[in-house]
Amino acid sequence: MTEQAEFWKNRHLEHKLSYSCPNPTLFRMLSSDFTNYNDKNVLELGFGGNDGADLIEFNRRGANLCIGLDINEYYVDRLNSYARSHNLMNLQGFTCNVANIKELDSTLNSERKYDLIFSQGLLCYLDKASIKAMHMNLSKYLKESTIICHLTPEEDLILEESANQDKFMNLTSLLNSSRKESFWENNPADILETKQLIQILDECGMELFEQKISCESLDNRCERVRVYRYLKLRFK
Ligand SMILES: C[S@@+](CC[C@H](N)C(=O)[O-])C[C@H]1O[C@@H](n2cnc3c(N)ncnc32)[C@H](O)[C@@H]1O
Repeated sequence: MTEQAEFWKNRHLEHKLSYSCPNPTLFRMLSSDFTNYNDKNVLELGFGGNDGADLIEFNRRGANLCIGLDINEYYVDRLNSYARSHNLMNLQGFTCNVANIKELDSTLNSERKYDLIFSQGLLCYLDKASIKAMHMNLSKYLKESTIICHLTPEEDLILEESANQDKFMNLTSLLNSSRKESFWENNPADILETKQLIQILDECGMELFEQKISCESLDNRCERVRVYRYLKLRFK
């Protein structure tokens, strides 16, 4: 098992319970493909750290089936007990290391095809070979129209101290007054260059047809800004 998989296997992000919520940017991005989720089958890879909040939202919006896979059994149990206590038969989590193709295949049923497969903050914990193998293998679970959507952190920017005085900084001056610096201390995330990631996905027969960038300061003083990329893909 990789260092990244070990890191997540037994991790409990208790503190996150206070702010787990569905991601509006994800739903906004998908609104050009789905007018509703009735009869749709949705699969999230690595749902755990956000307590499956997006899967729960897809379920609330009428999806036929919402399946989440995560390496961490604790997150999976938590989602399943939520589903049981709210009587949500079509929301289900499974413990699975998605980088392990055998595990993936024994967890998913190849008779069942998905309309949407997505991940948020997962790919940075998988090496290139695993990203490739996982996507090659996912083709079994796709319909012709399936949308694949990945959110991945792209870079971290730290505001230069001299610029810190400007209380009303706009995005342009923020970008001009910052330098790249990674905020991933004590976390084994390995951020692939987006171009490289798109290249790998292209080699798996997937084409990028839409993308989005979002930035969020990780602190409440706009000093440490993380840039995220959303990639929307389909099979060629
Ligand atoms: C940074 S968290 C992101 C969680 C959530 N998707 C969100 O948006 O907040 C990464 C998630 O991926 C899961 N994960 C990491 N490596 C994995 C692997 N190889 N297989 C399955 N899940 C994995 C972790 O357990 C964790 O729940």
